[in-house]
Amino acid sequence: MIIAGTLLLPDTEGERPGVRLAEGFIRTDAGRIVEVHEGGLPASFDLGGDGCLISPGFIDTHMHLPQFDLIGAHGMSLLDWLKQVTFPNEARWADPDYASAMTDRVIDQLLSVGTTSFAGYATIHHEAAKRALDCAARRGLRAVIGQVLIDQEAPDSMLRDAGECIAETESLLNDWPTQPEQRAPGNRVSTAVTPRFAITCSEGLMKAAGDLAKKHDAYVQTHLAEMLPELEAVAKLHGGPDYTSVYHRAGLLSPRTLLGHCVYLNDNERRLIAETGSVAAHCPTANSFLRSGTMKREQLNADGITVSLGSDIGGGYERSMVRVARAMIEATFYAEAKGAPSASEAWWQATAGNADAMGWPDTGRIQQNAEADLVILRPDIPWQDAHDPLGMVMFAYDDRWLTQTIVNGEVAYSCGQ
Ligand code: GUN
Ligand code: ZN
Repeated sequence: MIIAGTLLLPDTEGERPGVRLAEGFIRTDAGRIVEVHEGGLPASFDLGGDGCLISPGFIDTHMHLPQFDLIGAHGMSLLDWLKQVTFPNEARWADPDYASAMTDRVIDQLLSVGTTSFAGYATIHHEAAKRALDCAARRGLRAVIGQVLIDQEAPDSMLRDAGECIAETESLLNDWPTQPEQRAPGNRVSTAVTPRFAITCSEGLMKAAGDLAKKHDAYVQTHLAEMLPELEAVAKLHGGPDYTSVYHRAGLLSPRTLLGHCVYLNDNERRLIAETGSVAAHCPTANSFLRSGTMKREQLNADGITVSLGSDIGGGYERSMVRVARAMIEATFYAEAKGAPSASEAWWQATAGNADAMGWPDTGRIQQNAEADLVILRPDIPWQDAHDPLGMVMFAYDDRWLTQTIVNGEVAYSCGQ
């Protein structure tokens, strides 16, 4: 397949990473980008065309599959929102058929906004997690999905025995391993060890989760330091010296660890996260919606921490990673005096930057041999003549522009179909 237009190519020459615009075309074959040609448009092509932007598919590094149906429950802070809205909604995943059908619907939504890869939470229910993994694999996305671990401080219907849910996670790790060479060809889905957060996990559960992640070299997903009352509760339940140390003691921090939020971190915590190579997942739309605070992205970057970007649906309300990236720019304006990312850096973050954070050097970018996960946009505004063309596309962004989403070389979504 040949896809032509203005390509968003990796730009690693500058002081900060970004994307650059270049007219040209891409040829894909068997799920990979086999040729990237800079220059004019070819005489014939299959998709795209003059005025089209060809972007890598977007990657969402923190979201909750069962929460797509609860977006917009406004006016509560995190702990009340979890009790009143989130847990009752997640309880519906006790029915595996419901979980399957919902995951399928969510994937439709993701493809329609150009998200081709994600790291997501399922629920405490084992069968539901299996169905979500099956569904993502069937639809061809690159994904990491974890069964949520909870053994305390939650309603009875959300509580599980620690030994039982660790055994279930281990069986998922055997069936959905992290290493691609251990999976069937074409299967781009793996599982993650997913202790929800320190409030709802006993020391024993977290330690068993850390051991399991180490044994399988697995991804870990959890939440860290999202809001102040959460910090107080963690200190009461688990002691000091700080929240990050609780996870560190349990052996949960590694370069495969995705720490959602990281709004309130002291010097020691930032040092621990940098030293272990763990990833801080910035979720700006969730932080504003739940009025939790604002992550200091620039400071974390300066401390040598890898920062990724996530929608955190449904604490976050925004499905399109373009708008989440825009919210990231805006959050940085408010939280820090200098260094707000450009549109180019923000676009990089939602694509190659997130791929790098996931340890995926072969997706999220338009380059030879990368996986052909792509988005084609046809903006109806004069972006090519703008002072900052990508800035115009990002800040004036309109979902109607997305004409196709390509997953692993196949058109997986086409506007109007
Ligand atoms: N902390 C623990 N669970 C959650 C969740 O589902 N959403 C958010 N935003 N924070 C959490
Ligand atoms: Zn979350």
